[in-house]
Amino acid sequence: PRVMILNGPNLGRLGVREPEIYGHASMADLREVADDWGARLGLDVEVRQTDDEAQIVGWLHEAVDSRSHVVLNPAAFTHYSYALRDAAAQVTTSSLLLVEVHLSNPAARESFRHYSVVAGIATGTVAGFGFDSYRLALEAISHKLSH
Ligand code: DQA
Repeated sequence: PRVMILNGPNLGRLGVREPEIYGHASMADLREVADDWGARLGLDVEVRQTDDEAQIVGWLHEAVDSRSHVVLNPAAFTHYSYALRDAAAQVTTSSLLLVEVHLSNPAARESFRHYSVVAGIATGTVAGFGFDSYRLALEAISHKLSH
């Protein structure tokens, strides 16, 4: 099975950006570990990041057309992008899995981060575990696919 790990705006700055919240590891580090996790779980994993809403909407369409499951960290788009939500909804209504992930726990932060427009159409959500949020999401997908 294929899984696209899609990351939204400012996540290309991981490692440099607010390390006390997001940690010291970079997007390149995530690519490396995600490959290992994928190999271990038998998932064909691909990590992408963009600051562009149109790009991430296009990738979600691509996931539907290529029958790829999705691990999505929508970053700030989480809180306001109905375009992203509508694109993500096409994934789950096509019987593909979509796990929303966050490095931090948005519910424990500023109030504007408490609402996710994506959560209601996601298969499920993992938040608050740093890079392990992505690992747990892949494990959840692998587990769900084998049951
Ligand atoms: C984030 C949480 C969002 O509120 C924030 O805008 C991000 C990162 C996270 O992974 O913790 O950019 O999605």
